[in-house]
Amino acid sequence: MDRQLRPKRRWVVPGIAALSLLAAAGLARADDPPPPLKDNGLARTPPMGWNSWNRFACDVDETLIRKTADAMVSSGMREAGYQYVVIDDCWHGARDAHGDIQPDAKRFPSGMKALGDYIHAKGLKFGIYSDAGLKTCGGRPGSWGHEYQDAKQYAAWGVDYLKYDWCMAGTQDARSAYYIMSAALQASGRDIVLSICEWGTSKPWLWADKVGNLWRTTGDIYDKWEGVRDYSSGVMNIVDKQAELYPYARPGHWNDPDMLEVGNGGMTAEEYRSHFSLWAMLAAPLIAGNDIASMDASTQAILTNREVIAVDQDPLGQQARRVSKEGDLEVWIRPLQGGGRAVVLLNRGAAPAQISLDWSQMDYPATLQAKVRDLWAGKDVGIHTGRYQATAASHGVVMLKVQP
Ligand code: GLA
Repeated sequence: MDRQLRPKRRWVVPGIAALSLLAAAGLARADDPPPPLKDNGLARTPPMGWNSWNRFACDVDETLIRKTADAMVSSGMREAGYQYVVIDDCWHGARDAHGDIQPDAKRFPSGMKALGDYIHAKGLKFGIYSDAGLKTCGGRPGSWGHEYQDAKQYAAWGVDYLKYDWCMAGTQDARSAYYIMSAALQASGRDIVLSICEWGTSKPWLWADKVGNLWRTTGDIYDKWEGVRDYSSGVMNIVDKQAELYPYARPGHWNDPDMLEVGNGGMTAEEYRSHFSLWAMLAAPLIAGNDIASMDASTQAILTNREVIAVDQDPLGQQARRVSKEGDLEVWIRPLQGGGRAVVLLNRGAAPAQISLDWSQMDYPATLQAKVRDLWAGKDVGIHTGRYQATAASHGVVMLKVQP
């Protein structure tokens, strides 16, 4: 995998017609920034769906994608809000004589338009993957130099979501490279969510809201509670990198701490509940990454917990803040529309522990009465004033909704 990607200088955007016209008219200089893109109006709440990579890596074909679309419906995931069925890396064949990208004909013999139609007929949306470099991370053709042509092709296939990766990107500047694909998608005539997958290297939270709908903040996740392995990090390592990013999320534009590992087998049910709860608190895209056609009841119950999903999808679109961290015990707060708060009491330690929530951590006066509901127990736990405390299991959370 070639991840060399040192940016040289900003705003090298060859081929932007509008810019050269302005330059020709003497109104802009070559290194002026290109004109701002208009907001595509998509992803007003964090996108929800499924992506093939975490569970299947390069082993993708049309049978798997159809089976997954079927299971999105039969498992209740579509009803719970999951929409996008995204084929990650390795669906590609070669470019044809016109340079148009084609799918791998052995794996996708019916073609991408037929697959998109199948997904749409299920009431779902179709997502695909490409890369801003010469090749994808899996060594398939990238979109560098073919951005407009590829965007047009995706639109013809009925694509609704593009995850755009950053392998083999050479010396391109990330902001410029993603700008080109964003402009190309907008010119394609179809509404296509742009998922920026640049691993957080150039601090995309500082610029990517002008370009795309979500941006990865880290390297890849892997299916462990804690740890670092090559370019991948466990759930707790990823969470630590999100703590300061809350100012940058807002409707249409989200920090992306990577796709879910819930149900992939490397963590306990308790740990998966914590993973899912924290993603909801972070207003993260909820992109399932397991084999949903064969998931067990515990996995299904986690992925379809409506009250937790409602926190993720809260229309205010504010990401949670970590308001306290004492050793292994943390309190995370997310303001919700209507004045309530979502709360996660997180226990990273090896034994169960009591964690307390103080009203001041939610910016509430100590005298305020509020209804407290436990979202995993699915029950109200009383009206409280000033303070609430609960016991969280090892590697577990207590997730609450507090409503004055
Ligand atoms: C990168 C991305 C992953 C996945 C793979 C595919 O590692 O970060 O999410 O898309 O490439 O090769």
